[in-house]
Amino acid sequence: DANDLSKGAYDSYMLKEIDEQPAVLRRIIQTYTNINGDINMSSELIERLIQSDRLYIVAAGTSYHAGLIGKSLFEQLTDIPVEVVLASEFGYHLPKLSAHPFFLFLSQSGETADSRQVLVKIKKQNYPSLTITNVADSTLSREADYTLLLHAGPEIAVASTKAYTAQIAVESLLAKFLGTAKKIEAARQFDVRQELSLAATGMQSMIDEKDYISKLAKKYFYNQRTAFFIGRGNGYYLSLEAALKLKEVSYLHAEGFAAGELKHGTIALIEQDTPVVAFVTEAKTADHTRSNVQEVLSRGAKVLIISQENLVHPNDQLTFPVISELLNPLVAIIPTQLFAYFTAKARGNNVDQPRNLAKSVTVE
Ligand code: G6P
Repeated sequence: DANDLSKGAYDSYMLKEIDEQPAVLRRIIQTYTNINGDINMSSELIERLIQSDRLYIVAAGTSYHAGLIGKSLFEQLTDIPVEVVLASEFGYHLPKLSAHPFFLFLSQSGETADSRQVLVKIKKQNYPSLTITNVADSTLSREADYTLLLHAGPEIAVASTKAYTAQIAVESLLAKFLGTAKKIEAARQFDVRQELSLAATGMQSMIDEKDYISKLAKKYFYNQRTAFFIGRGNGYYLSLEAALKLKEVSYLHAEGFAAGELKHGTIALIEQDTPVVAFVTEAKTADHTRSNVQEVLSRGAKVLIISQENLVHPNDQLTFPVISELLNPLVAIIPTQLFAYFTAKARGNNVDQPRNLAKSVTVE
């Protein structure tokens, strides 16, 4: 149960929270939609969003990575240009803002100081703001004009898992609602309720492969010092999050790259048996990503491919059922969360309380 504060039969909160993700997704569907597919969110919020000409998504860490997936969702479903910005950078180097900006704060805890200093600044300019957070009475929630809750239940492990997928889900519902209000055809055609429930099923199918995923983790990561993740579009954004998870709990040096960018420098680091995980999650770039895979294979990399079923090749190690490319990150991220967990366990690390990290950082 996602609201349960005990670990129950689990050895760690991280594993419990990974397992809770399909249930959290279903709870988000139930909370925000009804059977007719109507979305239950404030219409005043939608009015404010319709009046804006650019959405600035402000976040840190894993929430920033959820914001990047949000950029694809909002741009494709609502036609609003989106900038995703790191809170710690943005506040002090304010770019030239559009005429009618709207600020979306993504924060699991709602307490991140880097994000709060941006909120304080933009409020002085009277710009409208929304916080998407897991914590109802948090600072960012109280201080923003609007709040949407993640309903993920308390996330206790320092490394964020279920908040990441919950943030993507809530962003997708908001994008659908806004796009429909703006009469955007792509939004009308996007059956968000159906896609989210397919995603919940897809997540479960990955979670059910835990034993196999633990064997892959052993084969690819246990004895490594470095690992790379590559992909394009949302697959690139997924790579950033997958690498962060591995760093946070397994203490491997891991990096995520746009697949096409690896050859412009970082490929120099590929040695015999360097693990490279590739996301093949987008039809229009699948062939290009696969040629990038060939480039690293010929330099000796040990490649692991995570692909969507319609794009699968016979030797891909992990495949998940087809859902909208806008939401397949919800499924594709699961095995990489498990890689991080299993590798950390095997190395004897404290999975829930990794060294040097805090659940929420309340200093700038
Ligand atoms: C800390 C946590 C990260 C988290 C980041 C942003 O650094 O260790 O896991 O992603 O803060 O937190 P927030 O609560 O704002 O999402």
